[in-house]
Amino acid sequence: MTSRTDQGERPGRTELGRFLLENGFLTTDWAPAFAAVPRTAFLPDVMWPHDRETGTAVAVSKAEDPDSWYAYADSNVPIVTQWDDGHHSGTEPGTVFTSSSSMPSVVFSMLADLDVRPGQRVLEIGAGTGWNAGLLAHRLGAGNVVSVEVDPDLARSAREALRRSGYGAVEVVTGDGLLGYPPRAPYARVIATAGLRTGLMTWVRQTTPGGILLAPWGTYYGYAEATVRLVVADDHNSASGHFTRPVTFMRMRSQRLQHPEHSQYVPARGTGGADKSTTTITEAEFLTGSLDVVGFAIGLRVRNCTHIADRKHDGKRPVWFYGLTDRSWAVVIFQDDREEATVYQSGPRRLWDEVESAYRWWDSQGRPDVQRFGLTVSAEGQAPWLDTPSNIVAR
Ligand SMILES: C[S@@+](CC[C@H](N)C(=O)[O-])C[C@H]1O[C@@H](n2cnc3c(N)ncnc32)[C@H](O)[C@@H]1O
Repeated sequence: MTSRTDQGERPGRTELGRFLLENGFLTTDWAPAFAAVPRTAFLPDVMWPHDRETGTAVAVSKAEDPDSWYAYADSNVPIVTQWDDGHHSGTEPGTVFTSSSSMPSVVFSMLADLDVRPGQRVLEIGAGTGWNAGLLAHRLGAGNVVSVEVDPDLARSAREALRRSGYGAVEVVTGDGLLGYPPRAPYARVIATAGLRTGLMTWVRQTTPGGILLAPWGTYYGYAEATVRLVVADDHNSASGHFTRPVTFMRMRSQRLQHPEHSQYVPARGTGGADKSTTTITEAEFLTGSLDVVGFAIGLRVRNCTHIADRKHDGKRPVWFYGLTDRSWAVVIFQDDREEATVYQSGPRRLWDEVESAYRWWDSQGRPDVQRFGLTVSAEGQAPWLDTPSNIVAR
């Protein structure tokens, strides 16, 4: 069982529970699991919580600074638990965070969306620390929970933490979660805790008709994602449902954003041979932050394109667009003292024109938030839609 310190009353933990309940993240049916399965029992001794004041990940050691360690663990912040696929040592943050304990508000919102019933078998993709699997095990019985983790070291520590917490019967499988886990299929529920762009159909085939599949989903356009909640059709050949909320998750290992090599697109002489134009879209309209519905919506229309916003320099902010299937590129340069931004485009596609047209379409639809969008997946592929499955979002 977990240590007394993990299970003990801590004001921070009580306060977190109250915050989650009062803000509707923790539903009353999940409150007993929150109380019984402390996050602290699953976190590593050295971890890198997100520090709100600095906006960065800071190293915290349980041995050296237990007060801070517990304070962060009991806060509504994401906590990085692995950098660079484990090829990183020391306490300084690494380059890319590759596993984390998600924000408790996101964890419990997703569990609420999953709408589990007693006795159901659940497949989780991305065991990470094992906390989410532990919460599911408390609710459904450990024997009903299967969790797949691609990283063998993480899978091992999740297994150990679950065993120490009394949930050793959770099956933590080391492997690629995109394959699901056929030996224990069918599942009544599938929950992914790493984001993906394609591949949902494999899980649909392992889910019972009427079952629910919840996953952070986004496009190659950028980091904007939302959780999609698919209900599997009776004929088992498709699944469809609305997006439930914007989220930012790390992506499945094989579906991470690969940043295009700028020099392979844009010649050293710069924007020389490119077409020049202007746009009236403003920086404030276009770049709306991390839970970015604009980027999410544009990604649904503009396929095989990714974008990167540079830092602002001397009042200018360039945003670059790269074609993923050819060498088309575009840049829009927002400038503080100008009403119109300058655009350069080059290559077979006119990427900014595509992006601007997608933006104008989103605007014309009443600037829908992610909850108005949905997704249908079938053997033919995946079709995003607006409001109803028949209203497919066209390219
Ligand atoms: C946000 S963390 C999961 C948090 C976890 N559910 C918890 O309670 O701590 C995402 C996890 O997904 C894992 N992951 C990434 N790609 C994967 C894949 N293809 N199959 C299985 N797990 C994967 C990562 O290694 C990482 O541990």
